[in-house]
Amino acid sequence: MQEHADKQRQSGKTITFVPTMGFFHDGHLSLMQKGRKMGDELVLSIFVNPAQFGPNEDLDTYPKNLERDLELAEQQGVDIVYTPDTELLYPEGYQTFVSLETLPNFLCGISRPLFFRGVTTVVTKLLNIVKPHAAVLGEKDFQQLAIVKQMVKDLNFDVEIISVPTVREPDGLAMSSRNSYLTPEQRPCALTLYQSLCRARDLIEEGTTRAAEILESAARLVTSYPETEIDYIAVSDPVTLVDIETIDNPVLMAMAVKVGSTRLIDNMILTPQ
Ligand code: PAF
Repeated sequence: MQEHADKQRQSGKTITFVPTMGFFHDGHLSLMQKGRKMGDELVLSIFVNPAQFGPNEDLDTYPKNLERDLELAEQQGVDIVYTPDTELLYPEGYQTFVSLETLPNFLCGISRPLFFRGVTTVVTKLLNIVKPHAAVLGEKDFQQLAIVKQMVKDLNFDVEIISVPTVREPDGLAMSSRNSYLTPEQRPCALTLYQSLCRARDLIEEGTTRAAEILESAARLVTSYPETEIDYIAVSDPVTLVDIETIDNPVLMAMAVKVGSTRLIDNMILTPQ
């Protein structure tokens, strides 16, 4: 992959990169479509990164369908699919990890303390292997996007990070490979994430400025289903991710909720009048 990337770069071609963990849905396809419009060569990686899973998380059961993913990637005009295995990226004796000081200490990082260290480590490795001019990431993982952008800036990576808006099911549920774990009975519970975000947007449009009011309303909606368990619901500064009390500028509302054993995340930028 590195030799190929060097050749492409030497011949003046630009490389765009879409990192993924596979099991594609329309959200992944929108990343590929964005990437296809950008550089000469579009490289996609499929790698379920063990370093970003905690000991009690779903690494072993993470959904996979490589054959279907390869077909979909081809249909989207992807030139190269890079599918390293764990031994290649983390051989015996591996010992280097990349981690940020502050941004991982909020939101998802609280209940998943090693998650972002795993993400930034694998993204660093993949950027060094694929050598892209630009990489495309989704806004559904807002904190991941913020952390990768910060890392690229701090460590002087010569790559542009491009983001693509969240793709939703017709009913509003944010697309996620983990939606495949949901039973039909759990679907309405899962929808409460998006419904809470929309309700918050409405409250802000009606003039609410107290974050606490928005958080209470969201918590009430989510917990109206006994199968849900709130990991966090937060109204935060979209740059620092610090909690906000009074909404007088655009804020990030982000949440993680467990529906049965499936952990779902969603977010929206809320803009006061
Ligand atoms: O968002 C994902 O799918 C993963 O976290 C990523 C960026 C591919 C790193 O493993």
